Amino acid sequence: MKILIRKIKKGDGEGIIRCFNEALKRGLNTYTRSNTLSTPEDIKEFDKAFSKPRLNEFGFVAVDKGKNLIAGVCIFSSKGHERIRHIGEISWGVHPDYLRKGIATKLADATIREATRRKFVRIEADIAKNNTASVRLARKCGFRIEGIKKYGLLLDDGRYENTYMFSKILTKHK
Ligand SMILES: CC(C)(COP(=O)(O)OP(=O)(O)OC[C@H]1O[C@@H](n2cnc3c(N)ncnc32)[C@H](O)[C@@H]1OP(=O)(O)O)[C@@H](O)C(=O)NCCC(=O)NCCS
Repeated sequence: MKILIRKIKKGDGEGIIRCFNEALKRGLNTYTRSNTLSTPEDIKEFDKAFSKPRLNEFGFVAVDKGKNLIAGVCIFSSKGHERIRHIGEISWGVHPDYLRKGIATKLADATIREATRRKFVRIEADIAKNNTASVRLARKCGFRIEGIKKYGLLLDDGRYENTYMFSKILTKHK
């Protein structure tokens, strides 16, 4: 299986949303913020957002070259303004057929490198306590827990879940 890690480009919307929808349908995305299947409208919006390079939002995809299929995605997004312009948030997801092959690790590494290159200082990720895979990935990539957000997520079965507030500091400053 040949997996290519590259920046998100115009036209990736459909493949990325197919990847997310597949994970949702197969019960993998229990702990993601969004729990609704994406629509063709969402694809349009996504493609619009990523049609031009932007300073404050970027991401990487993993492409299965053999099948020409998006097998995973990692996105960095910063509000990019005023006193929080040095901070961004990271999110990741992998297609259910491609789990535990190191794809998310590679995607996160590429995203962190790019955020460093763009001089961001702090990356944040809120992750449900029981999202074992995501917690493990965050720790592996050097994120540390700063605190616990009580009732951070409302699950589909009506239960609330605490979330860990993870962060990774990219550059030490005064
Ligand atoms: C989290 C996710 C992106 C990990 O993707 P992945 O490509 O399988 O991850 P990797 O193969 O790079 O593995 C990263 C680490 O997590 C561990 N890991 C992955 N899945 C795991 C699981 N189900 N249980 C325990 N550990 C797991 C791996 O062993 C590896 O750690 P190690 O090298 O120390 O052994 C994937 O499970 C996913 O898409 N989950 C659903 C979406 C989601 O929850 N997103 C995050 C919302 S906060």
